[in-house]
Amino acid sequence: MSPMSQTHLHATQGISSAQIEGAILEDGKNLSNWDVFTHRQGTIKNGENGDVAEDHYHRYLEDIDILHSLGVSAYRFSISWARVLPRGKFGEVNPNGVKFYNNIIDNLLLKGIQPFVTIAHHDFPQELEDRYGSWLSPLMQYEEFAYYANTCFRNFGERVKYWITINEPNLFTNMAYIKECIHRLIVRSLLEIVLLGILIPSHSLLCTTCYWHMPRLQSSTMSIFRFFGILRPPVVSSTSTSPLASVPTSTSAQTAPMSFLLAFSLNKASLTELIANLPSGASWLAKAASHCQFMEVTLQKMQHFLGNELPTFSPKEKQYIRGSIDFIAVNHYSTLYTKDCIYSSCILGGDRPIRGFAYTTGQDQNGVPIGEPTGMPVCFVVPEGMEEIIDYLKKRYQKTSLWYAPPAQPNVQVKDLLHDVKRIDFHKAYLSSLARAIRDGADVRGYFIWTLMDDFEWIHGYDATFGLYCVDPQTLKRIPKLSAKWYRNFLTNSSNNK
Ligand code: NOJ
Repeated sequence: MSPMSQTHLHATQGISSAQIEGAILEDGKNLSNWDVFTHRQGTIKNGENGDVAEDHYHRYLEDIDILHSLGVSAYRFSISWARVLPRGKFGEVNPNGVKFYNNIIDNLLLKGIQPFVTIAHHDFPQELEDRYGSWLSPLMQYEEFAYYANTCFRNFGERVKYWITINEPNLFTNMAYIKECIHRLIVRSLLEIVLLGILIPSHSLLCTTCYWHMPRLQSSTMSIFRFFGILRPPVVSSTSTSPLASVPTSTSAQTAPMSFLLAFSLNKASLTELIANLPSGASWLAKAASHCQFMEVTLQKMQHFLGNELPTFSPKEKQYIRGSIDFIAVNHYSTLYTKDCIYSSCILGGDRPIRGFAYTTGQDQNGVPIGEPTGMPVCFVVPEGMEEIIDYLKKRYQKTSLWYAPPAQPNVQVKDLLHDVKRIDFHKAYLSSLARAIRDGADVRGYFIWTLMDDFEWIHGYDATFGLYCVDPQTLKRIPKLSAKWYRNFLTNSSNNK
């Protein structure tokens, strides 16, 4: 049985605003942190930027036609904060920005494609960066984000059934504060790093402090969301120009699911076990990566490593956080073996050695490669890893009603660009694994492929080619790769088998 023959399973594409839209200063959009960051010398590979990106802002209708021709039933995209609220709370809602996303949502729905909307996918107005130093500030976390989320719910909540609050909060906090600050844009300046360094003398603490706020942020957003739901039937916003604005397609905002989207790597046993095992010697552990900690809200356990410097949740806060995730969304990059060690540069590490666990380079304890490299750093093709993580989540979170399968992300060399057989093999293998997980009782609702077309891959610029389509850099024409053709056939055959 193909997993897609499950009537409830969405075959989807993922994409994010800063990675494809371009038009960075058009129709009232303001500069985002990424727009500014990409123009700083030496930040992005080959000095590239997202000023034009894939010009999705002007070509979204063509792109929706492509999605339709592929036969996908859902499409995940993010809203550009700086397009909708160019100055955050300090300015007005940009009607052109709202109109743009209304057009996307309406046209998707007209084609029978369900929109999955990410509220924050790394980019936000530069003004907020300048004023707050972004996510480390409680004002940014609660006031600004809440205001923005509320604006999104008011304008799009009628028609959007699925919401992702924040894309990969576990990854970007880690990237910003641990991994040499490669997404350093969330810290305003060197001076600030130094000052924060004095106040909180460890990058890992910056990271975990930021991390720690994320579940609370999710809860606040959920409360707004639920409050918004209580107002139903909602008053259609005066800024909404959508012809479908008065046609509710979601049953109710109260039942529309919302979650974070987490980035997961491996899992072979539970985190609890991992933590329990860690202090004992240097034995090999084929265990979960740090990301599990985030979802399980076990940051307190990190006190074991970092002592009293870590913030804790009060019982009231725990109560508040409980139940604020409706489904589990997972980005699955790889499976890795880990081992415990005295470690100085991983998620738990930062700038001083502590006992933690290290990612290895893709070999097990006997030196056997865990899978073929995907082309992304430390990422390997290990389909059964996905199965295991789904199994773990199934057992651990039995009551969670929805499950999302990871996006598959093989990278291919330029010479293979159109003939991307490896990507097809990758998806076949992961889909087979997914089918087995479903047969074993996992409630998986969607398989998000990252991504529709090659796009601006953050600090890697345009070198990383994840798309089913490539985009001619001169003409911006979308050209299907072999994988696009394969995926279309796959979806057609799957729906014929229903
Ligand atoms: C998923 C992230 O959400 C996206 O922004 C990124 O481009 C891909 N992973 C590939 O790294």
